[in-house]
Amino acid sequence: MQKLEELFTGKAKSVFKTDDADKLILEFRDDTSAFDGEKIVQLERKGMVNNKFNAFIMQKLQAAGIPTHFESLLSDTESLVKKLDMIPVECVVRNISAGSIVKRLGVEEGLDLNPPTFEFFLKNDALHDPMINDYHIRSFGWATEEEVAAMKKLTFQVNDILTKLFDAAELLLVDYKLEFGRFNGEIFLGDEFSPDGCRLWDKETREKMDKDRFRQDLGNVIESYEAVARRLGVEL
Ligand code: ADP
Ligand code: TMP
Ligand code: ASP
Repeated sequence: MQKLEELFTGKAKSVFKTDDADKLILEFRDDTSAFDGEKIVQLERKGMVNNKFNAFIMQKLQAAGIPTHFESLLSDTESLVKKLDMIPVECVVRNISAGSIVKRLGVEEGLDLNPPTFEFFLKNDALHDPMINDYHIRSFGWATEEEVAAMKKLTFQVNDILTKLFDAAELLLVDYKLEFGRFNGEIFLGDEFSPDGCRLWDKETREKMDKDRFRQDLGNVIESYEAVARRLGVEL
């Protein structure tokens, strides 16, 4: 597999073409951003930790029947993935109230959400990822009704798989964001699953072990990501 020119530079990853038109290389960088790119710093080892963390989770999801873009780990910071036609929408499931929903709805942090709630956001930093609904997605042609249904179904299936996986590691999966894309007419899970795009709390103490440590200047950001990885059995 030959790595060719860079196709896109995201906030945390760089995307490269390969000599296979159907495959891309994702390079996980140490750049860490919050508030839609307003706050950016370099955190040593983050690219490596998130790359390996993501590979571990994607393989678990794949084994449990979720179609994912993940192909293989290429190096400490690079993974080979299927090239998807990305849908510009973020799918969020929340098991416990935290983050933007607390501010938006004026609810307390830490409430158990039964059933877990689902939200769509438009992937657009300049607009601060506004919340959207199923009709916006269909009316503006970002995805079809069938694709919307598939994204919701898969996002909830991921919840069943990952709440159990994290629970076994004494962690609460508070919420998370997924991105999907099309490959040969089918919907696949793309992008990444790492502590950058979810909230994880220690089950006992409810200590935050995810990107909120960076957003809220709590310190020990990567040390917490590494602790989560160790609990899950991810080899770093
Ligand atoms: P951001 O877009 O938030 O700055 P990243 O720095 O993570 O995010 O950049 C990675 C980019 O690659 C994102 O725009 C994401 O939607 C896109 N992407 C992720 N997986 C795939 C894939 N399999 N095929 C094509 N694009 C992808
Ligand atoms: P929020 O509370 O900020 O709406 O985020 C909900 C979850 O989704 C949280 O785990 C962070 C993740 N997320 C991202 O990673 N990127 C995003 O652009 C958004 C909107 C959410
Ligand atoms: N939207 C992501 C976050 O809130 C990344 C970013 O904002 O740069 O952390």
